[in-house]
Amino acid sequence: MIPTLTTERLELRAFTEADFETWAGIVADPEVARYIGGVRDRMQAWLRIAAYLGHWQLRGYGQWAVVERDSGRLVGRSGLWFPEGWPELEVGWTFARSAWGNGYATEAARAAVEWGRTELGLRRIASAIAPGNTRSIAVAERLGMRFDRKAVLPPDDEVLVYAMAL
Ligand SMILES: CC(C)(COP(=O)(O)OP(=O)(O)OC[C@H]1O[C@@H](n2cnc3c(N)ncnc32)[C@H](O)[C@@H]1OP(=O)(O)O)[C@@H](O)C(=O)NCCC(=O)NCCS
Repeated sequence: MIPTLTTERLELRAFTEADFETWAGIVADPEVARYIGGVRDRMQAWLRIAAYLGHWQLRGYGQWAVVERDSGRLVGRSGLWFPEGWPELEVGWTFARSAWGNGYATEAARAAVEWGRTELGLRRIASAIAPGNTRSIAVAERLGMRFDRKAVLPPDDEVLVYAMAL
């Protein structure tokens, strides 16, 4: 049910149990976690993978595990995300610190957005970003999004919503 997408350098595929150790390491890095709610312990990391997979089951779309094709290494996650309470359907991204600076987030998110446009018929996409997360804002802008409005993520995190028409 979860499709696999292939880009020039990346594969976007369903998370598996085998991704756990690498994923737990990625989200235990304070620099990665700084603008996404702080470092996650192992159980939180495991539950996040479960939520990514469950989101596909409930909504019919969701987050992919992103693998560097050359090395086979899990480098991050990207995809569509719209849990209860979210301002609107967004495209999101989190990558291992060691994978930053390669254009991977933009490449993966572009494929995810295109999948949403063609498979779901999306006509708009957004991204909710913490103020100060300049690297993430740069990804949104590279994709073509522009600042749209401020919003609140439950329980009370103020975010900037970037968005674009598709
Ligand atoms: C947000 C995040 C994914 C951005 O990662 P990133 O690597 O900076 O973003 P991109 O993948 O678009 O890469 C862009 C960089 O790669 C460089 N690059 C190198 N080779 C490239 C190539 N072949 N193609 C495109 N860009 C390339 C670009 O020049 C740019 O570098 P710069 O930052 O020095 O200008 C990353 O910082 C992250 O995971 N943060 C923690 C989690 C998080 O906050 N997520 C967002 C929640 S809203």
